[in-house]
Parts: sequence; structure tokens; C-alpha cells
Amino acid sequence: MRWIPKDSITVVTGASSGIGRCLCELLLDRGATVVAVARRAERLADLASRECPGKLIPVVGDVTDADVRTEILAAAGRVDNGRLDLLVNNAGIGAIGPFEDADEERLRRIMEVNFFAPAELMRHAIPMLRRGRASVICNISSVLGHRAVPDKSEYCASKFALHGLSDSVRAELARDASDGNSIQLTLVSPSTTRSEFFDSLIGSDAETQSKSIGSWPPAKVARATLSAIESRRSEVILSLAGKALVYADRISPPIVNAILAR
Ligand SMILES: NC(=O)c1ccc[n+]([C@@H]2O[C@H](COP(=O)([O-])OP(=O)(O)OC[C@H]3O[C@@H](n4cnc5c(N)ncnc54)[C@H](OP(=O)(O)O)[C@@H]3O)[C@@H](O)[C@H]2O)c1
Repeated sequence: MRWIPKDSITVVTGASSGIGRCLCELLLDRGATVVAVARRAERLADLASRECPGKLIPVVGDVTDADVRTEILAAAGRVDNGRLDLLVNNAGIGAIGPFEDADEERLRRIMEVNFFAPAELMRHAIPMLRRGRASVICNISSVLGHRAVPDKSEYCASKFALHGLSDSVRAELARDASDGNSIQLTLVSPSTTRSEFFDSLIGSDAETQSKSIGSWPPAKVARATLSAIESRRSEVILSLAGKALVYADRISPPIVNAILAR
């Protein structure tokens, strides 16, 4: 069974830039209805102005606000009697710098955006996804949700939490398989992506740069994400460097610790 974009009803958070924006464009081009969520209204208006076979429904707001999450699902529910075929939890933020030097606010904000908001959106979307066609929840994590690195402690914690939650909920949803319509949960773990992500770091030194080996443009991450959704994969680690980091860590954490320490 494959997930088919044409005539699907979808929700994508973090739709105003980077991976989320590119994914919305792909879905719209393939005839999906997309409820696109972000705080920057003008960016969503720009997305809505594109010529495409699909339909865009913008919801302007902060995913950490429970009322906004209710509005997102209400907007999707109005399209076809409360049916939803795809939820993409993509909105995310980061920070760089030692844990010791930061404050509680940085930790709480990152956990709210990257973990609690997608968790609650997922919980409330499940009944609607049960009415969908080959439905998928796609949670955008990171290779840093598999292997933690220094100076990104809050971000790693949030993506590890999303990873653990996703594995558990996927197993719960698989219990519905007997009725032939279980929801798949696809965890996508990109490596460094050349988006606006590093321009909007919170509680971080303005001069801070992220060190990484190789990086992908957001359009490539979006194409790989859509492919994982269409084939209803459980989990994908996207880049070769990301796979190398994760699998080396599984084989020998001390070797990876030594490399990262340098
Ligand atoms: N960039 C990387 O290197 C990288 C690597 C691995 C994983 N990821 C993950 O990929 C996802 C997308 O990131 P990206 O690289 O595409 O970054 P991006 O260009 O900065 O996009 C982030 C999106 O999230 C939205 N957003 C942030 N906080 C929000 C909030 N409170 N409420 C609603 N929307 C919010 C932003 O929109 P507004 O500001 O308009 O609200 C924006 O559309 C994130 O989950 C990130 O953790 C990124």
C-alpha cells in the first residue's frame, strides 16, 4: 500500500521556509490540499499565490498554542468530513552553546516547539487520520535525535524525545493493522540542511556557526521526505554522513565520542 498525494488532505507545520515550504510545494504540485502552518503570514500568502493543481489553506500561528493546534485540525476537518491523510510535524527551532551557560527558558522553548507541540498535534489528529487513506504521520527529527553532540543539548534532547515518542506511538498504531487501515508513523532524520534554521537560533551567540560534514538543500530533503511518506517507511536517516554517524555510534560509541571530542 502506498500513500498517494493526489486529492489527499494534509497538514504541514513550519511551512513558511526551508524543508516545510519545499514539501508544501511538492504536495500542492501533486494535487494535495495542504493546511500550511507558520507564524509568518506573508510567507504563507506567498505560498498560496502559486499556480498549482492542489489547494493551500494557510493557518497563521504558533504551534505551541493549543488554540492554534485546534484551529489547524478544524481547518483540515472542514475539507472532507473530518478526514486527514497526512500530518507532517516539521516546525522546529534550535540553539547552539553550552548547556551550563544557557537558562531554563531556552530548554523549555525548544521542548515546547520541537516536542510538546508535535506530540499534542499528533494525539488530536489520530482520530481524523483513522478516517484517512493509507494515512501517515511524518515527524521531522534529526540525526541528532539518534546521536547527541556537544553544544546542542536542548535540541538533541527534544529530537531524542520525538524519536522515542514516535517509536512508541508507531507500535500502538500498528495494533489497528487487523482492520487493514493502520496509520503509519514515518520518522525522518535529516542532517544539516541549508535552510533559515541557523538564522533563527534562540538564546545563542549571533556569531555561532554549526560544524557539519556536508549539507543538503531543503528541496532535496523535502523530496526524500515525500518519498519516505509515499512508501510509508517507518524511519529514514537521509544523508550518507548522517547514516555513518548513527551506525558508527551503534557499533562503537567510544570511537564516536573520541571523534566528536576533537
Ligand atoms: N536545518 C537543519 O540543519 C536541520 C537538520 C535536521 C533536522 N532539521 C529539522 O527540520 C525541520 C525544519 O527545519 P528547517 O531546516 O526547514 O528550518 P527553517 O527554514 O528555519 O524552518 C522552520 C519552520 O518552522 C516554523 N516554526 C518555527 N517555530 C514555530 C512555531 N513556534 N510555530 C509555528 N511554526 C514555527 C518556521 O516558521 P515561522 O518562523 O514563520 O513560524 C519555519 O517555517 C525542523 O524540525 C528542524 O529541527 C533541520
